Amino acid sequence: MLDPDLLDALRTARHVVVFTGAGVSAESGIPTFRDRLTGLWERFDAASLATAEAFRADPALVWGWYEWRRSVVHRAQPNPAHLAIAALASKVPKLTLITQNVDDLHERAGSLDVTHLHGQLERPRCFQCQRDPDAPLPVPDEPEAGRRVQPPACAHCGGPLRPGVVWFGESLPMDAITHAFQAAEQCDLLISIGTSGVVYPAAEIPEIAWRLRATVLHINPVPGPLHGERDFALASAAGIALPALLNEAFAEH
Ligand code: OAD
Repeated sequence: MLDPDLLDALRTARHVVVFTGAGVSAESGIPTFRDRLTGLWERFDAASLATAEAFRADPALVWGWYEWRRSVVHRAQPNPAHLAIAALASKVPKLTLITQNVDDLHERAGSLDVTHLHGQLERPRCFQCQRDPDAPLPVPDEPEAGRRVQPPACAHCGGPLRPGVVWFGESLPMDAITHAFQAAEQCDLLISIGTSGVVYPAAEIPEIAWRLRATVLHINPVPGPLHGERDFALASAAGIALPALLNEAFAEH
């Protein structure tokens, strides 16, 4: 039985923001950032591979890591949490979906207009001239974790392609972060799902919503501390908590 105030906030919300992190894709088999990396990648720290310096020093090592991640995502399927978020969009007047994830599982679950704060694996660009490639990347094979892969050359300048993600030390796409902050300011309910909330500025998004008097719900098997009023937590896996929440909030409505 969920808190009646939380159910009420969901049923009466005019604008819901759903803010997701790596935990929403965990049940699809995609390792979160702060999990131990598997296989050979145990030797590497994700944060030290996700920088321009790392790419400059060893492009094949970094591109190989992202090709491995792309192959994991390619073989994964949206889970009940992604599907519940897509379903929620038709139950509330307005829903804005903001993700820190670079996978495309929200889109494959049927969500429209997904704002990707940290870029997308499938959107590489040239490391040198910044232009997009003319054709999409080929479907990844199943590289074993740890295999080095040379990045393809840019058709315009011959420079190496780089993953279309935001690396540490880089700015977030301005249009995405502006849109996310505006939605956080305007919403009356924000649901934060599967994020450790340690990477800024994205981690500010639930804070902004709460300060401006929205109700905030955190869904995470390991939730952080709560503020008190209008701040709720469901200490559960997203693929269980979200379908249960929708069921209880909308079943008889
Ligand atoms: P993290 O890996 O930091 O955190 C994942 C969170 O998901 C943790 O708090 C877990 O407890 C939670 N979790 C695990 N399984 C879950 C489940 N089944 N349901 C719900 N929650 C679950 O991932 P993020 O917070 O997304 O940045 O990381 C933020 C950013 O740090 C990433 O976007 C990436 C990384 O460095 C960039 O690439 C710029």
